Amino acid sequence: MFREVMNRRRLLLALAGVGGAGLLVRLLSKRGTSDAPTEEPTNEVVAPRETALEIGCAENQLAFDPTELVAPTNGQIRLTFHNHSTVFMHNWVLVDGGEAAVDQVLQAATTAGPGQNYLPGDMSNVIAHTELVESGGSTTITFATPPAGEYTYICTFPGHGLAGMRGTLIVTASGLLHKGYSIRVTA
Ligand code: CU
Repeated sequence: MFREVMNRRRLLLALAGVGGAGLLVRLLSKRGTSDAPTEEPTNEVVAPRETALEIGCAENQLAFDPTELVAPTNGQIRLTFHNHSTVFMHNWVLVDGGEAAVDQVLQAATTAGPGQNYLPGDMSNVIAHTELVESGGSTTITFATPPAGEYTYICTFPGHGLAGMRGTLIVTASGLLHKGYSIRVTA
């Protein structure tokens, strides 16, 4: 009995020694005992390249923080928006097009009203958006990274975008990022 245990231990050590850590985990798991290492269940979607971006806002000012985000092309973006305000509701809306498109989206959003969560009826200029987030709340969205270029993001709650609650998402080709930017890319 004792010898058997020792042999097993030696085998496991040997396996671990030759880089068989993964196999070791599988062997232990197969035994179905409680001493087997528990693996965290993952809900991760296998994607070619996902860029995780975090954005918040400057407490009770009508401003995003940061006002610039960077992502590489050919992948998807997983963006988490934290509403740090204690009084305002905000959303994060990514617009395709220049200043005219931004104005169109802001105007249409106000017209749409709270019943439509201040989102335009015509979403052709909207690449991605969060829901309206209550103060202190946060939300995460995932969307396909748009082609290389610069895109404006805004909050479409009436008055916020006009007051300057906006920023720029820079999508760069082949993941070549400007120095100084910090983003997390998960394989
Ligand atoms: Cu807002």
